[in-house]
Amino acid sequence: MNLDFLKQQNVSESLIKDVDNFRKQFPLDENMKRRVPNPPIPFYGKEILEMSIAALLKGENLLLSGGKATGKNILAENLAYIFGRPSYNISFHVNVDSAALVGTDTFIDNEVRLRKGMVTLCAENGGLGVFDEINMAKNDAVSVLHAALDYRGIIDIPGYDRIELHPATRFIGTMNYGYAGTKELNEALVSRFMVINMPKQDEETVKLILKTYFPEAKEKALDQFTGLFMDLQLKAEHSEISTKSVDIRGMIGALKTIQTGLKPTSAVNMGITNKSFDIFEREIVEDIVMTRIPEDWTRDDVF
Ligand SMILES: Nc1ncnc2c1ncn2[C@@H]1O[C@H](COP(=O)(O)OP(=O)(O)O)[C@@H](O)[C@H]1O
Ligand SMILES: [Mg+2]
Repeated sequence: MNLDFLKQQNVSESLIKDVDNFRKQFPLDENMKRRVPNPPIPFYGKEILEMSIAALLKGENLLLSGGKATGKNILAENLAYIFGRPSYNISFHVNVDSAALVGTDTFIDNEVRLRKGMVTLCAENGGLGVFDEINMAKNDAVSVLHAALDYRGIIDIPGYDRIELHPATRFIGTMNYGYAGTKELNEALVSRFMVINMPKQDEETVKLILKTYFPEAKEKALDQFTGLFMDLQLKAEHSEISTKSVDIRGMIGALKTIQTGLKPTSAVNMGITNKSFDIFEREIVEDIVMTRIPEDWTRDDVF
């Protein structure tokens, strides 16, 4: 992948030029190059790309909010790639405490030393830190980040020095609002981010995503899979089904297993239909699937 995909999507020339300048301003150490992700797919969505690039250029942090599989993580990966920065993935779950983020005491050669946490490593190397599912974390775990996320740009490690963020450091939080186990983010934290609401997928984007992952698939089959996704999304919007089966990740998984020779309907059962555990809902999903993916289809109808 190179940066041509930005031009192809008509991302503003001046933003692309500014990205170029940013990369010149912050050349990357040789030993950091392997930490720069090489995304499997470009992020599709000009407006979202422009918003996020503009915010990061100006030193802002980003909070990506949206439903599952709306491309939050793939966008974060793309941004690290675009800016040419190492990426640090920091998963948030209920047991993450502030020490796990910034660093903990550890014994090395019979001495107590600091084992640096991901946030500290990210800050030292001017990385892009991705706080994945940030709203799963306890607020007090996150409060240690406040000074890192605002104009102060520092991390205070209790018992050790405070470190200053490398000027290329940025953070991106992702969140899936309202899911089980999520917490309301406190306002003080949210105010340290620019927020992007990830849009639901449109037909063109879904087709493009499937085509990028499966360039060898038959056009007509991809149209049916795209149609299936749009049908399910519409039913979910009308509250006839939940969003469980509206899952582009599951659709990609189904197509992969079809490549191995599995019958398309079985593959779609695993990737899509069976994600609804409620039998009534599953029947509705099965009906929708039947109209799109004929029972007698084989691998050759798809690839
Ligand atoms: N706009 C998009 N551009 C490219 N790929 C996308 C986009 N939206 C979703 N995807 C694809 O959907 C899948 C799930 O994306 P991911 O970033 O993991 O979602 P999230 O983190 O929002 O749950 C990935 O395979 C990704 O490539
Ligand atoms: Mg994700």
